[in-house]
Amino acid sequence: MNKKTIRDVDVAGKRVLVRVDFNVPLADGKVADDTRIRAALPTIQYLLDHGAAVILMSHLGRPKGKVVPELRMDPVAARLSELLGRPVRKLGDCVGPEVEAVCRALSPGEVVLLENTRFHPEERANDPAFAAQLASLGDLYVNDAFGTAHRAHASTEGVARAMRERGGEAVAGFLMEKELKFLGEAVENPERPFVAILGGAKISDKIGVIQRLLERCDRLLIGGGMANTFFKAMGFDMGESLVEEEAVETAGALLKQGRSRLVLPVDLVVADAFSEEAHTKVVAPDGVPAGWRALDVGPKTIGTFESALSGARTVVWNGPMGVFEMEPFARGTFDLAEVLAKMEATVIVGGGDTAAAVRQSGLADRFTHISTGGGASLEFLEGKVLPGVAALSDR
Ligand code: 3PG
Repeated sequence: MNKKTIRDVDVAGKRVLVRVDFNVPLADGKVADDTRIRAALPTIQYLLDHGAAVILMSHLGRPKGKVVPELRMDPVAARLSELLGRPVRKLGDCVGPEVEAVCRALSPGEVVLLENTRFHPEERANDPAFAAQLASLGDLYVNDAFGTAHRAHASTEGVARAMRERGGEAVAGFLMEKELKFLGEAVENPERPFVAILGGAKISDKIGVIQRLLERCDRLLIGGGMANTFFKAMGFDMGESLVEEEAVETAGALLKQGRSRLVLPVDLVVADAFSEEAHTKVVAPDGVPAGWRALDVGPKTIGTFESALSGARTVVWNGPMGVFEMEPFARGTFDLAEVLAKMEATVIVGGGDTAAAVRQSGLADRFTHISTGGGASLEFLEGKVLPGVAALSDR
């Protein structure tokens, strides 16, 4: 990586402003999944161990530039404090005289968490004056928020520029470094054979990724709802299945482009309603009965995918194989997770739903890397520049 990391700068005695992605699910006023908080611990702990005071900031949800009480960062501060084993003070705002005074008075070893940056419309607008106010809180800026690196917001992009304009450094944290390394190497320089697996509901979200991966991988396996649009392009009647009519032509072009490298499901679990109580059966892709819909890949498909994966040295998986949140349509996703967990290959998982499914499968520790990024991992796999990374100091 050509960007500086926290290893390249002296943090002792500094007040370090760290952008983390603590955009975590909440339930009953508590953090329901702390994966993203845990993922930032190595950076926070390193800074504390090396004599820094840590000022953390993140967005939470999409409050649209207003204070939304349910999206305050207090539950996040409470969970982080438990994980770190030290107090984490949550401040009432992310800018302003009070925040400035608290940050100025911090001693090494202290940790504060600023209030949700998206309570201010200037955050999403990447307002330079707001970014400069954020930058003034620390001596050094660290971006460890890979999950938000695709957003050019004040706390990700503007603040890095503002910090550098003030003569300070803007560097990557350990999580950011790790994500860029694993996802970057998988696409730029994979050990071959390199197999990519894409699923999820829509092709339209992933056309750029499909195209880039098709150019680089040895095989591309397609599952999930997006397979329906490919089948439609092949002339099959998909019944009530989710089909993106406006993407059928693109799917046809990708089928031509991919030829022998594209592997589609050979059977589908279909249901007579979008419900856990629906009647289900397994059919061939050209045999979806009128009024039925495809909601998962079938068992033969997993066998086909297993063969296509055999001998692979690098695998990237993004997108579930079916509606895994509903028990009758979860098998494709979980069986695929089992196949991948057994492989002796570098296996990288990206995307919020896929990562959640892998964690739910209990097999997470058998995977090489599970990305904390949803949209960010897709944009990175697509080869797009991530503004939050581009703004950091070069080596
Ligand atoms: C995410 O969860 O993907 C990131 O935190 C970014 O959130 P956003 O899509 O609301 O910008």
